[in-house]
Amino acid sequence: MRTRMTELFGIEHPIMCGGMMWLAKPELCAAISNAGALGNLTAQNYMGGEEFRKAVQQTRKLTDKPFCVNITALPAIRITKEMHWEYFQVCCQEQVRAIEVSGTPLDKYFGPQCIEMAKKAGVKLIHKVGAVRHALHAERAGYDAVIAAGIEEGGHPLDDDVTTMLLTPRMRESVNIPVITTGGIADGRSLAAALVLGADGVMMASRFVATTECKVHQNVKEEIARKQEHETTLINKSIHLQMRTWKNEAAKKVLEIEERKGTLDEILAIIAGDRASRLLEQGDVESAPFAVGQSVGLIHDVVSCKEVVERMVKEAEETLASTLKRIKS
Ligand SMILES: Cc1cc2nc3c(=O)[nH]c(=O)nc-3n(C[C@H](O)[C@H](O)[C@H](O)COP(=O)(O)O)c2cc1C
Repeated sequence: MRTRMTELFGIEHPIMCGGMMWLAKPELCAAISNAGALGNLTAQNYMGGEEFRKAVQQTRKLTDKPFCVNITALPAIRITKEMHWEYFQVCCQEQVRAIEVSGTPLDKYFGPQCIEMAKKAGVKLIHKVGAVRHALHAERAGYDAVIAAGIEEGGHPLDDDVTTMLLTPRMRESVNIPVITTGGIADGRSLAAALVLGADGVMMASRFVATTECKVHQNVKEEIARKQEHETTLINKSIHLQMRTWKNEAAKKVLEIEERKGTLDEILAIIAGDRASRLLEQGDVESAPFAVGQSVGLIHDVVSCKEVVERMVKEAEETLASTLKRIKS
């Protein structure tokens, strides 16, 4: 499959991994890139520019293929604006292939000169957005592509709450730069559907958690393979940073605090602190909210990244061919 996405990044398949706090680190990133898709190294996993630079260099030891870096410009407890600036500078100095920006667009966050800096370094800028108005801004500001992120996605979907099914064709008709779709994508049928809706490719995150190369407790991977599409929920609406997480005891607790208008500190006690490491490292899947998309309904096994990508491309090609045959017969 050759699309504007594969050409933009110089990759084999129109598939990329989304940013993942705690998980999108060198081994997983390189495994995805080695499979012919675009791996993701999430900058916020590193406490500052030099630590992040070492991760970029480590990734390069594991793959000679292109990969992208996620910079999430959203309010955070540990990460400062200075650290975001350091990540951006390292991306330019190390000439990574692309930056996936989520949250505030970089031109508003650092000033318009950063777009020119990225262009000079040959770094492609992609903005993950949940609304056409934000995609139009990204195109005007000089971004190279947009990611249409529907409400189905894991993590922090925009509170416009528009589905991938609607957002993808609306983005396609509104901007001229490549459109990459995310939210509800986890197999070849959803890749085929995204292409039919006008996307140049897809981004996924939850699917890549349930892989042999992802460094997270086996219980977490198996829980993703077991959960169905109705087993996610949106928490943190009350603090205006809604998050799609799987439904578990911790997520229910947050919803209960929000329902009775509890304090921010009460919410933070559940979503921050050592609860995340109990989930990620010790495999206690009830201990903390955990970002996953409705795409969990399409994930039924834990396999290698190579298997995920190859299977997906084959299934997408077969789906496109068999659909035409089915509606013509
Ligand atoms: C475990 C996990 C952590 C995530 N962390 C981030 C993050 O730090 N920054 C970000 O922009 N998106 C983050 N996301 C969202 C993904 O990049 C992506 O937009 C979304 O998960 C796509 O939906 P899917 O998981 O159904 O494929 C995260 C998603 C998951 C599953």
